[in-house]
Amino acid sequence: MLFYFTATGNSLYVAKQLSKNPLSIPQLLKNGELRFEDESIGIVCPVFAGEPPKIVMRFIEKETFKTDYFYMILTYGHDQSDSPEFTCALLKEFGVKVDYIGTVKLVDNYLPVFNMDEEKMIDKRVDGQIETIKAALSSKLKDIPIASDEGRKLHAMVANMGRQNPSFNNGEQIKVTEDCIGCGVCAKVCPIGDLFIKDGMAARKSKTCEFCLACANNCPQKAIVMNIMDKNPNARYRNENISLEEIIAANNQSQ
Ligand SMILES: Cc1cc2nc3c(=O)[nH]c(=O)nc-3n(C[C@H](O)[C@H](O)[C@H](O)COP(=O)(O)O)c2cc1C
Repeated sequence: MLFYFTATGNSLYVAKQLSKNPLSIPQLLKNGELRFEDESIGIVCPVFAGEPPKIVMRFIEKETFKTDYFYMILTYGHDQSDSPEFTCALLKEFGVKVDYIGTVKLVDNYLPVFNMDEEKMIDKRVDGQIETIKAALSSKLKDIPIASDEGRKLHAMVANMGRQNPSFNNGEQIKVTEDCIGCGVCAKVCPIGDLFIKDGMAARKSKTCEFCLACANNCPQKAIVMNIMDKNPNARYRNENISLEEIIAANNQSQ
C-alpha cells in the first residue's frame, strides 16, 4: 500500500513507478479516521524546507498503520538537508516506526528561488534513482540515512528563517493577478480547497495555506505569482509524465 501527496507531479511520478494504485493523501483526508493494514506501507511526498509537508503529517497523525515494513520516499529538488533523519524522528513522535527512507532528486518547484525553465533543463537521472529505491524496497532494506552536519545546519537555518518571517513560506506570498480568467484550475489542484472563483477570478478563503505551489505551477495563465520573490513568473512546472487531470484527481477537494 502506497500513499502520496503531490503538487506538481514529481511525487506522483515516483509513486506510480512503485505501485499500480497509489492512494492520494488529500482524498483520504476527506474520510473519517482509517486503519490501514498491509505487508508494507509507504508514503511518497515532497520535502518542504527540510521537512515533510504539513498535510502529510496531518494524515500520519490521523491514520493508523499496521505493517511490518513502513517506508517513506522523499522527493526534493536541490538539497535534502537532514530531511530523512528529521522525518524519522518526527514520525517516531507520532508513534510510527520507519524502516526505510529513500530520496529522489527531481526538478525543484520552489518558485521563489528557482527558474523553472532552467530547472527543467537539468538532467537529474531520475529513473536511475528510482531503480535504486525499487531494489531497496524489494529487499525490504532497513536504512535511515544519517544526515551530515551541513545538512542539519541548513535545515536549522531554513526553519529559523521561517520562524523570523512566517509569511515567507505560509501562503501569504501567493497573489492572483489580473491575468486570471477564472478557469478554476487552481481551485481544483489546491489540496485543501483554499481557492474558489468569485466574480470570474480566483480568490482565496484564507491568507495562509500549505504553500505547496500547486496553484501557481498548474495555472494555465501563469496568473498566480509570488509577492516577495518569484524567480521567473513566466516559467512554471508540472512533471512531464503527469497530466493536469492526474493532479486534479489527486487534490481536488470539491469532487
Ligand atoms: C514550499 C517548498 C519548499 C521546498 N523545500 C525544499 C527543500 O528544502 N529542499 C529541496 O531540495 N527541495 C525543496 N522543495 C522542492 C520540492 O521538494 C520538489 O520540487 C518536489 O519534488 C516537488 O514534489 P511534487 O512535484 O510532488 O509536489 C520545496 C518546494 C516547495 C514548494
